[in-house]
Amino acid sequence: MTRGLFISFEGIDGAGKSTHIDRVAQLFREAGRAVVLSREPGGTPLSEKLRELVLHEPMDALTEALLMFAARREHLGQVIEPALARGDVVLCDRFTDATFAYQGGGRGFDWQVLVQLERMVQVLPDGALRQPELTIWFDLDPHIAAQRLASARVPDKFESQPADFFAAVRAGYAKRQSEMPGRFARIDAAQSLDAVGADVGRVLSDWMKRTTA
Ligand code: TYD
Repeated sequence: MTRGLFISFEGIDGAGKSTHIDRVAQLFREAGRAVVLSREPGGTPLSEKLRELVLHEPMDALTEALLMFAARREHLGQVIEPALARGDVVLCDRFTDATFAYQGGGRGFDWQVLVQLERMVQVLPDGALRQPELTIWFDLDPHIAAQRLASARVPDKFESQPADFFAAVRAGYAKRQSEMPGRFARIDAAQSLDAVGADVGRVLSDWMKRTTA
């Protein structure tokens, strides 16, 4: 049976990851793989309700972090683990790195508390921690992201934050990458759509070669 694969996509709001996730899904489907496309916060009916709350209601920083992890717990149990057990490819638009970047970096919430919550929520029966095997980080200067977002739809609670907030989120992603360099691939999202797409393709094929070697 084919082994399940778990890939996450990260970056500040406006970095442009969504288009590329769809293309990656297409690539895997063309290769004959079953793909589960999902997102965080969200991915199950309950987690989508939690998403509505965290993206639109003002709340205390700990409440926000706990709701992100509560949504993740449901998502893992209902969607991600069963898909990986079937041998599917799980492509997730954001995962725990977003909590470290947004709640840890952006909000300044205690990094070590997030480490504890991660351990509690993502632990597997054998004691290992569930993590994406590959995380594609679309890295972009917050000022460029803000320009891209200016023409987009009505902003949610995070999208309406100032550039300073996103600079701190970006620093959170960089810190997370430095802590777990093995699974992170950073892509320069300031490039054209096609150039970013080509980089995503290269990252994936290099990674597939490494993991199947
Ligand atoms: P996003 O993924 O950008 O979705 P859309 O493309 O529909 O706007 O929105 C999710 C927002 O939630 C984004 O601003 C980042 C934020 N977020 C956190 O703050 N912490 C988390 O743990 C996750 C998963 C997301």
